Amino acid sequence: MKERENWGSKIGLILAMSGNAIGLGNFWRFPYQAAKNGGGAFMLPYVIALFVLGIPIILVEWMQGRYGGKYGHGTIGYMVYLQSREKIKPKRAAILGSICGMIVIGVTVLVNSYYNHIIGWTLGYGIFTAAGKTMDANVSTGDFFVNYVTSPGPVFIFWIISLGFLALAVTRGIQKGIEAWAKLMMPILYVFGFILIFKSVTIGAPVKPEWSALKGLDYLWSPRWSELSWQTALAASGQIFFTLSLGMGIIQNYASYIKEDDDIVLSSLTTVGLNEFAEVILGGTIVIPICYAFLGAEGLSQSIGLTFISLPNIFRAVNGGRAIGTLWFILLFCAGITSAIAMYNYIVAILEEDMGFTRKKASILVFALYIIVGLPVGLEQIITKTAGFAYFSEVDNWVGTYFLVIMGLIEIVVTGWLMKDSFLDEINRGAYWKLPSWVYNVVIKFITPISILLLLIGSTMDYIKQGYFKLVPDFVAKTPELVPWVNGARIIIIIVFTLGFIGTYRSIKKVYGEELESNSVIIKK
Ligand code: PHE
Repeated sequence: MKERENWGSKIGLILAMSGNAIGLGNFWRFPYQAAKNGGGAFMLPYVIALFVLGIPIILVEWMQGRYGGKYGHGTIGYMVYLQSREKIKPKRAAILGSICGMIVIGVTVLVNSYYNHIIGWTLGYGIFTAAGKTMDANVSTGDFFVNYVTSPGPVFIFWIISLGFLALAVTRGIQKGIEAWAKLMMPILYVFGFILIFKSVTIGAPVKPEWSALKGLDYLWSPRWSELSWQTALAASGQIFFTLSLGMGIIQNYASYIKEDDDIVLSSLTTVGLNEFAEVILGGTIVIPICYAFLGAEGLSQSIGLTFISLPNIFRAVNGGRAIGTLWFILLFCAGITSAIAMYNYIVAILEEDMGFTRKKASILVFALYIIVGLPVGLEQIITKTAGFAYFSEVDNWVGTYFLVIMGLIEIVVTGWLMKDSFLDEINRGAYWKLPSWVYNVVIKFITPISILLLLIGSTMDYIKQGYFKLVPDFVAKTPELVPWVNGARIIIIIVFTLGFIGTYRSIKKVYGEELESNSVIIKK
Protein backbone atom coordinates (compact mmCIF):
# COMPACT_ATOMS: atom_id res chain seq x y z
CA MET A 1 0.00 0.00 0.00
CA LYS A 2 1.17 3.53 -0.76
CA GLU A 3 2.73 5.35 2.20
CA ARG A 4 0.15 7.76 3.67
CA GLU A 5 1.07 11.34 4.37
CA ASN A 6 1.27 12.59 7.96
CA TRP A 7 0.99 16.00 9.55
CA GLY A 8 4.34 17.79 9.57
CA SER A 9 4.19 19.15 13.12
CA LYS A 10 2.03 19.22 16.20
CA ILE A 11 1.25 22.91 15.76
CA GLY A 12 0.32 22.22 12.14
CA LEU A 13 -2.04 19.44 13.20
CA ILE A 14 -3.66 21.58 15.86
CA LEU A 15 -4.10 24.56 13.55
CA ALA A 16 -5.49 22.39 10.76
CA MET A 17 -7.92 20.68 13.14
CA SER A 18 -9.01 23.99 14.61
CA GLY A 19 -9.32 25.33 11.09
CA ASN A 20 -11.60 22.41 10.38
CA ALA A 21 -13.79 23.14 13.39
CA ILE A 22 -13.64 26.95 13.36
CA GLY A 23 -15.82 27.91 10.47
CA LEU A 24 -18.78 29.99 9.49
CA GLY A 25 -20.55 28.08 12.23
CA ASN A 26 -18.62 30.04 14.83
CA PHE A 27 -19.10 33.53 13.46
CA TRP A 28 -22.26 33.37 11.45
CA ARG A 29 -24.32 30.60 13.00
CA PHE A 30 -23.48 30.87 16.72
CA PRO A 31 -24.44 34.51 17.29
CA TYR A 32 -27.89 34.21 15.76
CA GLN A 33 -28.58 30.84 17.36
CA ALA A 34 -27.69 32.28 20.75
CA ALA A 35 -29.73 35.41 20.15
CA LYS A 36 -32.73 33.58 18.73
CA ASN A 37 -32.79 31.09 21.57
CA GLY A 38 -32.88 33.39 24.51
CA GLY A 39 -29.31 34.75 24.72
CA GLY A 40 -28.36 33.96 28.28
CA ALA A 41 -30.74 31.02 28.39
CA PHE A 42 -28.85 29.48 25.49
CA MET A 43 -25.46 29.40 27.14
CA LEU A 44 -26.36 26.98 29.93
CA PRO A 45 -27.51 24.08 27.71
CA TYR A 46 -24.68 25.02 25.37
CA VAL A 47 -22.03 24.45 28.02
CA ILE A 48 -23.72 21.25 29.20
CA ALA A 49 -23.88 19.98 25.61
CA LEU A 50 -20.20 20.79 25.19
CA PHE A 51 -19.29 18.47 28.05
CA VAL A 52 -21.88 15.76 27.56
CA LEU A 53 -21.83 15.54 23.77
CA GLY A 54 -19.04 17.63 22.31
CA ILE A 55 -15.96 16.49 24.19
CA PRO A 56 -16.80 12.75 24.36
CA ILE A 57 -17.68 12.61 20.66
CA ILE A 58 -14.59 14.53 19.62
CA LEU A 59 -12.40 12.11 21.60
CA VAL A 60 -14.13 9.19 19.89
CA GLU A 61 -13.68 10.76 16.45
CA TRP A 62 -9.95 11.40 16.90
CA MET A 63 -9.53 7.86 18.11
CA GLN A 64 -11.49 6.43 15.16
CA GLY A 65 -9.42 8.45 12.73
CA ARG A 66 -6.00 7.49 14.05
CA TYR A 67 -7.20 3.87 14.30
CA GLY A 68 -8.28 3.87 10.64
CA GLY A 69 -5.08 5.57 9.58
CA LYS A 70 -3.10 2.70 11.09
CA TYR A 71 -4.74 0.42 8.52
CA GLY A 72 -4.19 2.96 5.75
CA HIS A 73 -7.75 4.30 5.69
CA GLY A 74 -8.96 7.88 5.94
CA THR A 75 -12.68 7.34 5.45
CA ILE A 76 -15.39 6.39 7.92
CA GLY A 77 -16.78 3.23 6.29
CA TYR A 78 -13.60 1.28 6.88
CA MET A 79 -13.10 2.72 10.34
CA VAL A 80 -16.49 1.59 11.60
CA TYR A 81 -16.04 -1.74 9.85
CA LEU A 82 -12.68 -2.36 11.53
CA GLN A 83 -13.93 -1.25 14.92
CA SER A 84 -16.97 -3.50 14.99
CA ARG A 85 -16.09 -6.52 12.83
CA GLU A 86 -14.95 -8.69 15.71
CA LYS A 87 -17.99 -8.28 17.91
CA ILE A 88 -20.72 -8.24 15.27
CA LYS A 89 -18.89 -10.17 12.53
CA PRO A 90 -17.64 -8.73 9.22
CA LYS A 91 -20.93 -8.98 7.31
CA ARG A 92 -22.92 -6.84 9.71
CA ALA A 93 -19.95 -4.59 10.33
CA ALA A 94 -19.74 -3.87 6.62
CA ILE A 95 -23.39 -2.82 6.54
CA LEU A 96 -22.92 -0.56 9.54
CA GLY A 97 -19.79 0.92 7.98
CA SER A 98 -21.67 1.52 4.74
CA ILE A 99 -24.47 3.36 6.55
CA CYS A 100 -21.86 5.65 8.10
CA GLY A 101 -20.10 6.04 4.77
CA MET A 102 -23.43 6.97 3.21
CA ILE A 103 -24.14 9.69 5.76
CA VAL A 104 -20.66 11.14 5.54
CA ILE A 105 -20.64 11.16 1.76
CA GLY A 106 -24.01 12.91 1.98
CA VAL A 107 -22.55 15.51 4.34
CA THR A 108 -19.29 16.13 2.51
CA VAL A 109 -20.93 16.35 -0.90
CA LEU A 110 -24.03 18.32 0.06
CA VAL A 111 -23.16 20.50 3.04
CA ASN A 112 -20.23 21.89 1.10
CA SER A 113 -22.58 22.49 -1.83
CA TYR A 114 -24.15 25.41 0.05
CA TYR A 115 -21.27 26.19 2.41
CA ASN A 116 -18.99 26.97 -0.55
CA HIS A 117 -21.56 29.49 -1.74
CA ILE A 118 -21.54 31.30 1.58
CA ILE A 119 -17.74 31.38 1.37
CA GLY A 120 -18.16 32.90 -2.08
CA TRP A 121 -20.46 35.59 -0.64
CA THR A 122 -17.92 36.43 2.07
CA LEU A 123 -15.26 36.87 -0.59
CA GLY A 124 -17.58 38.96 -2.73
CA TYR A 125 -18.71 41.03 0.23
CA GLY A 126 -15.08 41.49 1.34
CA ILE A 127 -14.15 42.89 -2.05
CA PHE A 128 -17.31 44.99 -2.43
CA THR A 129 -16.86 46.39 1.07
CA ALA A 130 -13.19 47.22 0.45
CA ALA A 131 -14.24 48.95 -2.75
CA GLY A 132 -16.93 50.88 -0.89
CA LYS A 133 -19.77 49.34 -2.90
CA THR A 134 -21.73 48.05 0.09
CA MET A 135 -21.44 51.48 1.68
CA ASP A 136 -23.67 53.34 -0.78
CA ALA A 137 -26.47 54.81 1.32
CA ASN A 138 -28.86 54.89 -1.69
CA VAL A 139 -29.23 51.13 -1.76
CA SER A 140 -30.48 49.44 1.41
CA THR A 141 -28.29 46.58 2.59
CA GLY A 142 -31.29 44.28 2.24
CA ASP A 143 -31.68 45.21 -1.43
CA PHE A 144 -27.96 44.88 -1.91
CA PHE A 145 -28.05 41.33 -0.60
CA VAL A 146 -31.05 40.31 -2.72
CA ASN A 147 -29.37 41.86 -5.72
CA TYR A 148 -26.21 39.97 -5.00
CA VAL A 149 -27.78 36.53 -4.64
CA THR A 150 -30.06 36.94 -7.63
CA SER A 151 -27.32 38.05 -10.04
CA PRO A 152 -25.34 35.32 -11.80
CA GLY A 153 -22.17 37.44 -12.06
CA PRO A 154 -21.15 37.81 -8.40
CA VAL A 155 -22.75 34.53 -7.32
CA PHE A 156 -20.79 32.45 -9.79
CA ILE A 157 -17.53 34.37 -9.99
CA PHE A 158 -16.76 34.48 -6.26
CA TRP A 159 -18.04 30.97 -5.71
CA ILE A 160 -15.79 29.54 -8.41
CA ILE A 161 -12.78 31.50 -7.15
CA SER A 162 -13.38 30.07 -3.68
CA LEU A 163 -13.64 26.56 -5.09
CA GLY A 164 -10.37 27.21 -6.90
CA PHE A 165 -8.70 28.11 -3.59
CA LEU A 166 -9.92 24.84 -2.10
CA ALA A 167 -8.80 22.79 -5.08
CA LEU A 168 -5.36 24.33 -4.95
CA ALA A 169 -4.91 23.65 -1.26
CA VAL A 170 -6.11 20.07 -1.42
CA THR A 171 -4.05 19.25 -4.51
CA ARG A 172 -0.86 20.14 -2.68
CA GLY A 173 -1.52 17.51 -0.03
CA ILE A 174 -1.68 17.37 3.72
CA GLN A 175 1.52 19.17 4.72
CA LYS A 176 2.11 21.55 1.85
CA GLY A 177 -1.55 22.26 1.25
CA ILE A 178 -3.92 21.90 4.19
CA GLU A 179 -1.36 22.43 6.94
CA ALA A 180 0.36 25.35 5.23
CA TRP A 181 -2.95 27.15 4.64
CA ALA A 182 -4.08 26.62 8.20
CA LYS A 183 -0.80 28.07 9.46
CA LEU A 184 -1.42 31.17 7.40
CA MET A 185 -5.16 31.62 7.80
CA MET A 186 -5.71 30.76 11.44
CA PRO A 187 -3.37 33.46 12.79
CA ILE A 188 -5.01 35.99 10.44
CA LEU A 189 -8.38 34.95 11.82
CA TYR A 190 -7.35 35.43 15.44
CA VAL A 191 -5.61 38.77 14.84
CA PHE A 192 -8.56 40.18 12.90
CA GLY A 193 -10.86 38.76 15.54
CA PHE A 194 -9.10 40.70 18.28
CA ILE A 195 -9.14 43.95 16.31
CA LEU A 196 -12.87 43.52 15.71
CA ILE A 197 -13.56 42.75 19.38
CA PHE A 198 -11.81 45.92 20.36
CA LYS A 199 -13.94 47.91 17.95
CA SER A 200 -17.10 46.15 19.00
CA VAL A 201 -16.87 46.63 22.76
CA THR A 202 -15.76 50.24 22.50
CA ILE A 203 -18.63 51.27 20.29
CA GLY A 204 -20.66 52.68 23.18
CA ALA A 205 -24.36 53.36 22.76
CA PRO A 206 -24.73 55.25 19.47
CA VAL A 207 -28.49 54.75 18.98
CA LYS A 208 -30.20 54.51 22.36
CA PRO A 209 -28.62 54.75 25.79
CA GLU A 210 -30.18 51.42 26.82
CA TRP A 211 -28.65 49.66 23.79
CA SER A 212 -24.97 49.75 24.65
CA ALA A 213 -22.39 47.24 23.44
CA LEU A 214 -21.73 46.10 26.98
CA LYS A 215 -25.45 45.52 27.53
CA GLY A 216 -25.23 43.26 24.50
CA LEU A 217 -22.65 41.16 26.31
CA ASP A 218 -24.85 41.19 29.34
CA TYR A 219 -27.70 39.93 27.21
CA LEU A 220 -25.64 36.92 26.13
CA TRP A 221 -24.20 36.16 29.51
CA SER A 222 -27.07 36.70 31.98
CA PRO A 223 -28.99 33.49 32.23
CA ARG A 224 -32.72 34.00 31.91
CA TRP A 225 -33.89 30.75 33.40
CA SER A 226 -37.52 31.33 32.55
CA GLU A 227 -36.75 31.25 28.84
CA LEU A 228 -35.06 27.88 29.05
CA SER A 229 -36.91 25.29 27.05
CA TRP A 230 -36.58 22.00 25.27
CA GLN A 231 -36.22 24.03 22.09
CA THR A 232 -33.23 25.95 23.48
CA ALA A 233 -31.54 22.72 24.52
CA LEU A 234 -32.02 21.27 21.03
CA ALA A 235 -30.65 24.38 19.38
CA ALA A 236 -27.66 24.43 21.71
CA SER A 237 -26.86 20.76 21.10
CA GLY A 238 -27.25 21.24 17.35
CA GLN A 239 -24.80 24.11 17.52
CA ILE A 240 -22.26 21.97 19.41
CA PHE A 241 -22.47 19.34 16.67
CA PHE A 242 -22.09 21.87 13.89
CA THR A 243 -19.33 23.95 15.38
CA LEU A 244 -17.11 21.03 16.38
CA SER A 245 -17.73 19.38 12.98
CA LEU A 246 -19.15 16.31 14.74
CA GLY A 247 -20.85 13.51 12.87
CA MET A 248 -19.39 14.78 9.61
CA GLY A 249 -16.52 12.27 9.23
CA ILE A 250 -14.03 15.05 8.62
CA ILE A 251 -12.40 14.97 12.06
CA GLN A 252 -11.73 11.27 11.55
CA ASN A 253 -10.26 12.00 8.15
CA TYR A 254 -7.82 14.58 9.52
CA ALA A 255 -7.01 12.32 12.48
CA SER A 256 -6.12 9.49 10.10
CA TYR A 257 -3.00 11.43 9.14
CA ILE A 258 -1.72 11.37 12.73
CA LYS A 259 1.14 8.97 13.44
CA GLU A 260 0.20 5.80 15.25
CA ASP A 261 1.48 6.82 18.64
CA ASP A 262 1.23 10.58 18.59
CA ASP A 263 -0.87 12.14 21.33
CA ILE A 264 -4.56 12.58 20.60
CA VAL A 265 -6.09 13.29 24.01
CA LEU A 266 -4.51 16.63 24.75
CA SER A 267 -4.39 17.63 21.09
CA SER A 268 -8.10 17.07 20.59
CA LEU A 269 -8.96 18.94 23.78
CA THR A 270 -6.74 21.81 22.66
CA THR A 271 -8.62 22.15 19.41
CA VAL A 272 -11.92 22.11 21.29
CA GLY A 273 -10.54 24.95 23.41
CA LEU A 274 -9.45 26.93 20.38
CA ASN A 275 -12.81 26.39 18.73
CA GLU A 276 -14.78 27.47 21.77
CA PHE A 277 -12.57 30.50 22.19
CA ALA A 278 -13.23 31.47 18.59
CA GLU A 279 -16.94 30.81 18.94
CA VAL A 280 -17.89 32.20 22.30
CA ILE A 281 -15.23 34.83 22.82
CA LEU A 282 -14.59 36.02 19.27
CA GLY A 283 -17.90 35.15 17.58
CA GLY A 284 -19.96 36.16 20.59
CA THR A 285 -18.07 39.31 21.44
CA ILE A 286 -17.80 40.70 17.94
CA VAL A 287 -21.29 40.25 16.61
CA ILE A 288 -23.57 40.38 19.63
CA PRO A 289 -22.40 43.68 21.19
CA ILE A 290 -22.07 45.51 17.90
CA CYS A 291 -25.50 44.45 16.70
CA TYR A 292 -27.08 45.00 20.07
CA ALA A 293 -25.73 48.54 20.20
CA PHE A 294 -27.43 49.35 16.90
CA LEU A 295 -30.46 47.09 16.79
CA GLY A 296 -31.23 45.95 20.31
CA ALA A 297 -32.17 42.38 21.19
CA GLU A 298 -34.92 42.21 18.58
CA GLY A 299 -32.60 42.91 15.69
CA LEU A 300 -30.22 40.11 16.57
CA SER A 301 -32.16 37.06 15.70
CA GLN A 302 -32.03 36.87 11.93
CA SER A 303 -30.02 34.14 10.31
CA ILE A 304 -28.26 34.87 7.04
CA GLY A 305 -29.41 38.43 7.41
CA LEU A 306 -27.34 39.13 10.49
CA THR A 307 -24.02 38.91 8.67
CA PHE A 308 -25.04 40.02 5.21
CA ILE A 309 -27.72 42.63 5.93
CA SER A 310 -27.58 43.93 9.52
CA LEU A 311 -23.83 44.12 9.93
CA PRO A 312 -23.20 45.91 6.62
CA ASN A 313 -25.76 48.44 7.76
CA ILE A 314 -23.80 48.98 10.92
CA PHE A 315 -20.53 49.25 9.00
CA ARG A 316 -22.09 52.18 7.17
CA ALA A 317 -22.76 53.93 10.45
CA VAL A 318 -19.52 53.44 12.36
CA ASN A 319 -16.23 55.25 12.03
CA GLY A 320 -13.85 53.30 9.83
CA GLY A 321 -16.72 51.00 8.92
CA ARG A 322 -15.34 50.20 5.52
CA ALA A 323 -12.08 48.86 6.94
CA ILE A 324 -13.85 47.05 9.76
CA GLY A 325 -16.28 45.47 7.33
CA THR A 326 -13.47 44.32 5.10
CA LEU A 327 -11.66 42.69 8.02
CA TRP A 328 -14.88 40.98 9.06
CA PHE A 329 -15.49 39.42 5.67
CA ILE A 330 -11.85 38.35 5.30
CA LEU A 331 -12.12 36.72 8.72
CA LEU A 332 -15.23 34.86 7.60
CA PHE A 333 -13.55 33.84 4.39
CA CYS A 334 -10.56 32.34 6.28
CA ALA A 335 -12.89 30.58 8.71
CA GLY A 336 -14.94 29.14 5.87
CA ILE A 337 -12.07 28.03 3.65
CA THR A 338 -10.19 26.14 6.36
CA SER A 339 -13.38 24.20 7.14
CA ALA A 340 -14.46 23.52 3.59
CA ILE A 341 -11.00 22.14 2.81
CA ALA A 342 -11.75 19.32 5.24
CA MET A 343 -14.88 18.25 3.38
CA TYR A 344 -13.09 18.59 0.06
CA ASN A 345 -10.23 16.43 1.32
CA TYR A 346 -12.61 13.74 2.49
CA ILE A 347 -13.94 13.13 -1.00
CA VAL A 348 -10.42 13.34 -2.42
CA ALA A 349 -9.39 10.67 0.11
CA ILE A 350 -12.15 8.38 -1.17
CA LEU A 351 -11.05 8.83 -4.77
CA GLU A 352 -7.38 8.51 -3.90
CA GLU A 353 -7.41 5.68 -1.41
CA ASP A 354 -10.40 3.63 -2.50
CA MET A 355 -10.35 4.20 -6.23
CA GLY A 356 -6.70 4.72 -7.03
CA PHE A 357 -6.82 8.24 -8.52
CA THR A 358 -3.83 10.53 -8.09
CA ARG A 359 -4.42 13.39 -5.64
CA LYS A 360 -4.32 15.92 -8.45
CA LYS A 361 -6.87 14.12 -10.61
CA ALA A 362 -9.05 13.53 -7.57
CA SER A 363 -9.01 17.24 -6.71
CA ILE A 364 -10.02 18.18 -10.22
CA LEU A 365 -12.87 15.68 -10.14
CA VAL A 366 -14.09 17.01 -6.80
CA PHE A 367 -13.93 20.55 -8.18
CA ALA A 368 -16.23 19.46 -11.01
CA LEU A 369 -18.48 17.64 -8.57
CA TYR A 370 -18.82 20.71 -6.34
CA ILE A 371 -19.72 22.81 -9.36
CA ILE A 372 -22.51 20.38 -10.25
CA VAL A 373 -23.94 19.93 -6.77
CA GLY A 374 -23.58 23.62 -5.99
CA LEU A 375 -25.46 24.78 -9.08
CA PRO A 376 -28.99 24.41 -7.69
CA VAL A 377 -28.02 26.31 -4.54
CA GLY A 378 -26.97 29.32 -6.59
CA LEU A 379 -29.52 28.98 -9.38
CA GLU A 380 -32.59 28.93 -7.14
CA GLN A 381 -32.31 32.63 -6.27
CA ILE A 382 -31.26 33.60 -9.78
CA ILE A 383 -34.19 31.78 -11.40
CA THR A 384 -36.90 32.63 -8.85
CA LYS A 385 -35.57 36.20 -8.44
CA THR A 386 -36.10 35.99 -4.68
CA ALA A 387 -33.81 35.22 -1.78
CA GLY A 388 -35.78 32.05 -1.06
CA PHE A 389 -33.05 29.53 -0.21
CA ALA A 390 -35.51 26.63 -0.10
CA TYR A 391 -33.07 24.13 -1.62
CA PHE A 392 -30.38 25.30 0.79
CA SER A 393 -32.68 25.05 3.82
CA GLU A 394 -33.91 21.59 2.95
CA VAL A 395 -30.36 20.24 2.52
CA ASP A 396 -29.24 21.97 5.70
CA ASN A 397 -32.18 20.68 7.74
CA TRP A 398 -31.50 17.08 6.88
CA VAL A 399 -27.90 16.60 5.88
CA GLY A 400 -26.39 19.54 7.78
CA THR A 401 -28.32 18.99 11.00
CA TYR A 402 -30.46 15.88 11.49
CA PHE A 403 -28.13 13.24 10.10
CA LEU A 404 -25.16 14.57 12.07
CA VAL A 405 -26.94 13.46 15.20
CA ILE A 406 -27.69 10.00 13.80
CA MET A 407 -24.06 9.69 12.81
CA GLY A 408 -22.92 10.79 16.27
CA LEU A 409 -25.14 8.14 17.83
CA ILE A 410 -23.73 5.36 15.64
CA GLU A 411 -20.15 6.44 16.34
CA ILE A 412 -20.61 6.47 20.07
CA VAL A 413 -22.47 3.16 20.21
CA VAL A 414 -19.88 1.49 17.99
CA THR A 415 -17.07 2.79 20.18
CA GLY A 416 -18.79 2.19 23.51
CA TRP A 417 -20.32 -1.19 22.80
CA LEU A 418 -19.19 -2.82 19.58
CA MET A 419 -15.45 -2.30 19.61
CA LYS A 420 -13.33 -5.24 20.67
CA ASP A 421 -10.00 -3.41 21.00
CA SER A 422 -9.85 -1.43 24.20
CA PHE A 423 -10.91 2.16 23.68
CA LEU A 424 -8.77 3.35 26.58
CA ASP A 425 -5.63 1.59 25.33
CA GLU A 426 -6.27 2.92 21.87
CA ILE A 427 -6.87 6.55 22.84
CA ASN A 428 -4.21 6.70 25.56
CA ARG A 429 -1.39 5.42 23.36
CA GLY A 430 1.17 8.21 23.23
CA ALA A 431 -1.04 10.52 25.31
CA TYR A 432 0.60 13.33 27.29
CA TRP A 433 -1.98 12.76 29.92
CA LYS A 434 -4.19 9.76 29.93
CA LEU A 435 -7.94 9.65 29.93
CA PRO A 436 -9.29 8.14 33.17
CA SER A 437 -11.38 5.00 32.82
CA TRP A 438 -14.65 6.59 34.00
CA VAL A 439 -14.72 8.70 30.86
CA TYR A 440 -15.23 5.46 29.00
CA ASN A 441 -17.20 3.39 31.50
CA VAL A 442 -19.62 6.09 32.50
CA VAL A 443 -19.63 8.83 29.88
CA ILE A 444 -18.99 7.13 26.55
CA LYS A 445 -20.94 4.00 27.35
CA PHE A 446 -23.95 5.62 29.00
CA ILE A 447 -24.27 9.35 29.44
CA THR A 448 -23.37 10.43 25.92
CA PRO A 449 -25.37 7.81 23.96
CA ILE A 450 -28.44 8.40 26.12
CA SER A 451 -28.12 12.15 25.63
CA ILE A 452 -27.77 11.79 21.87
CA LEU A 453 -30.78 9.51 21.82
CA LEU A 454 -32.80 12.14 23.68
CA LEU A 455 -31.53 14.76 21.30
CA LEU A 456 -32.58 12.64 18.35
CA ILE A 457 -36.06 12.08 19.75
CA GLY A 458 -36.39 15.76 20.56
CA SER A 459 -35.21 16.78 17.11
CA THR A 460 -37.59 14.35 15.45
CA MET A 461 -40.55 15.73 17.37
CA ASP A 462 -39.43 19.23 16.59
CA TYR A 463 -39.10 18.40 12.89
CA ILE A 464 -42.62 16.97 12.90
CA LYS A 465 -43.88 20.14 14.57
CA GLN A 466 -42.05 22.38 12.09
CA GLY A 467 -43.61 20.36 9.26
CA TYR A 468 -40.28 19.22 7.77
CA PHE A 469 -41.57 15.68 7.27
CA LYS A 470 -44.52 16.83 5.19
CA LEU A 471 -44.64 16.39 1.42
CA VAL A 472 -44.80 20.16 1.19
CA PRO A 473 -42.93 21.42 4.25
CA ASP A 474 -44.46 24.38 6.07
CA PHE A 475 -41.61 26.75 5.26
CA VAL A 476 -42.56 26.73 1.58
CA ALA A 477 -46.32 26.25 2.01
CA LYS A 478 -46.98 29.89 1.12
CA THR A 479 -44.48 30.05 -1.73
CA PRO A 480 -45.48 27.36 -4.24
CA GLU A 481 -42.73 28.44 -6.65
CA LEU A 482 -40.17 27.18 -4.15
CA VAL A 483 -41.70 23.72 -3.72
CA PRO A 484 -39.84 22.18 -6.70
CA TRP A 485 -36.56 23.31 -5.12
CA VAL A 486 -37.39 21.44 -1.94
CA ASN A 487 -38.35 18.35 -3.89
CA GLY A 488 -35.24 18.65 -5.99
CA ALA A 489 -33.16 18.76 -2.83
CA ARG A 490 -34.87 15.64 -1.56
CA ILE A 491 -34.21 13.74 -4.78
CA ILE A 492 -30.56 14.75 -4.76
CA ILE A 493 -30.18 13.72 -1.12
CA ILE A 494 -31.64 10.29 -1.88
CA ILE A 495 -29.40 9.83 -4.92
CA VAL A 496 -26.24 10.86 -3.05
CA PHE A 497 -27.12 8.63 -0.09
CA THR A 498 -27.79 5.63 -2.32
CA LEU A 499 -24.55 6.06 -4.22
CA GLY A 500 -22.74 6.65 -0.94
CA PHE A 501 -24.02 3.41 0.53
CA ILE A 502 -23.22 1.30 -2.51
CA GLY A 503 -19.82 2.94 -2.99
CA THR A 504 -18.79 2.43 0.62
CA TYR A 505 -19.93 -1.19 0.63
CA ARG A 506 -17.99 -1.91 -2.54
CA SER A 507 -14.81 -0.37 -1.24
CA ILE A 508 -15.00 -2.29 2.02
CA LYS A 509 -15.55 -5.44 -0.01
CA LYS A 510 -12.60 -4.68 -2.24
CA VAL A 511 -10.15 -4.62 0.65
CA TYR A 512 -11.79 -7.00 3.10
CA GLY A 513 -13.64 -9.28 0.66
CA GLU A 514 -12.08 -12.39 2.10
CA GLU A 515 -13.30 -11.49 5.55
CA LEU A 516 -16.79 -10.84 4.27
CA GLU A 517 -16.89 -14.17 2.51
CA SER A 518 -15.74 -16.22 5.47
CA ASN A 519 -17.44 -13.82 7.90
CA SER A 520 -14.37 -13.97 10.13
CA VAL A 521 -11.51 -11.60 10.91
CA ILE A 522 -8.31 -12.23 8.94
CA ILE A 523 -6.36 -8.97 8.56
CA LYS A 524 -5.06 -7.69 11.90
CA LYS A 525 -2.60 -5.03 12.97
N1 PHE B 1 -17.35 23.29 12.22
C1 PHE B 1 -17.60 23.81 10.94
C2 PHE B 1 -18.15 25.22 11.10
O1 PHE B 1 -18.33 25.65 12.21
C3 PHE B 1 -18.57 22.91 10.23
C4 PHE B 1 -18.25 22.70 8.80
C5 PHE B 1 -17.08 22.10 8.42
C6 PHE B 1 -19.12 23.10 7.82
C7 PHE B 1 -16.76 21.94 7.08
C8 PHE B 1 -18.83 22.95 6.48
C9 PHE B 1 -17.64 22.39 6.12
O2 PHE B 1 -18.40 25.91 10.18
